[in-house]
Amino acid sequence: MTAKPVNLTEALASFDDVYSPRIVARMNDYDVRIAHTLGEHVWHVHEDTDEFFLVLDGRFDIALRDAAGVETTVVLNAGDTFVVPRGAEHKPSSPGGAILMFEPSGTSTTGDRYSGEIPDHVDSTTGHELR
Ligand code: NI
Repeated sequence: MTAKPVNLTEALASFDDVYSPRIVARMNDYDVRIAHTLGEHVWHVHEDTDEFFLVLDGRFDIALRDAAGVETTVVLNAGDTFVVPRGAEHKPSSPGGAILMFEPSGTSTTGDRYSGEIPDHVDSTTGHELR
């Protein structure tokens, strides 16, 4: 256990790669992760877990695709929160921003499955330690 607080502004300033989450805290069996966002992510699904987002800075959009292939996009600005339900196919995109995520430890950024190619700027990871 550490008695040191984590400051999110400082934590975000400590790295600049996008879509490459850093774990700022663990709580029970969950991670609190932060990431810079820019550009298109990849369509993916988390079969067994919901995924919580809080936009810290900028704008972050989440496209959702239902079983019939119908897409809707949720537009999120700083201060907005949103939960992607388990099993929902989704693809984040952003003109630039930063987010905080809350999800079970071990959850992959590209889901249990994804469609197409993972772009070079998207890190397929279960999160990195904050340094
Ligand atoms: Ni996701």
